[in-house]
Amino acid sequence: MRTPDYPSRDSDDWAKVDSYFTDLLAPADSALEASLEANANGGLPAYDVSPMQGKMLALFVTMTGAKRVLEIGTLGGYSTIWMARALPEGGSITTIESVAHHAEVARKNIANAGVTERVDLRVGAALDVLPELTGPFDLVFIDADKPNNPSYLEWSMKLARPGTVIIGDNVVRGGAVTDSDSRDPNVRGVRTFLEMISEDPRLEATAIQTVGEKGWDGFVMAVVKAR
Ligand code: DHB
Ligand code: MG
Repeated sequence: MRTPDYPSRDSDDWAKVDSYFTDLLAPADSALEASLEANANGGLPAYDVSPMQGKMLALFVTMTGAKRVLEIGTLGGYSTIWMARALPEGGSITTIESVAHHAEVARKNIANAGVTERVDLRVGAALDVLPELTGPFDLVFIDADKPNNPSYLEWSMKLARPGTVIIGDNVVRGGAVTDSDSRDPNVRGVRTFLEMISEDPRLEATAIQTVGEKGWDGFVMAVVKAR
């Protein structure tokens, strides 16, 4: 069982339910399991989405009919593989990773999952890579260094179109998000990000708290409104 990022008294129960759901709805998958193992062996932080969250991202790709996906923060490519698999024929996911070693592990995981052809993995700081990209993207998943979330939102908007879905991971952080005095740069980044979303008349959004094998966290989801 993984160590939750934000544990609580009930962490074991949440993880047990996650495991029950995963066995039912996304059973053993050798490429995905191998990627988590490679990430652990490579010393990558265990910040991957959970299997049920990966499946949720895949379903979002399917439900939106997204053909072009942008992921900010590849890590070892676990969520990348989930979303890449859900793409239609001719679809692609551009994913950005700033740590060369993480990108190297991700490249192998992506190849092992047989989705290399659909994945455009860019190595570099997202704020350097984003200006090189051409939109529009249909779906954006922001899951990198949280202090830069406000800038990632600005770039996502530049690379979006009306109807683009923007998802941001880790906006609850064990409840720390409500602490307006927090000195934690991750919390501050997430709070500014959420405030920007709330104040942007072009966006309609919700935020959902989650419990499971990662503990207590959640994601924000926004859609760019039609003009
Ligand atoms: C952290 C980052 C993540 O993307 C995640 O899913 C969990 C935790 C972190 O930086 O603490
Ligand atoms: Mg995350």
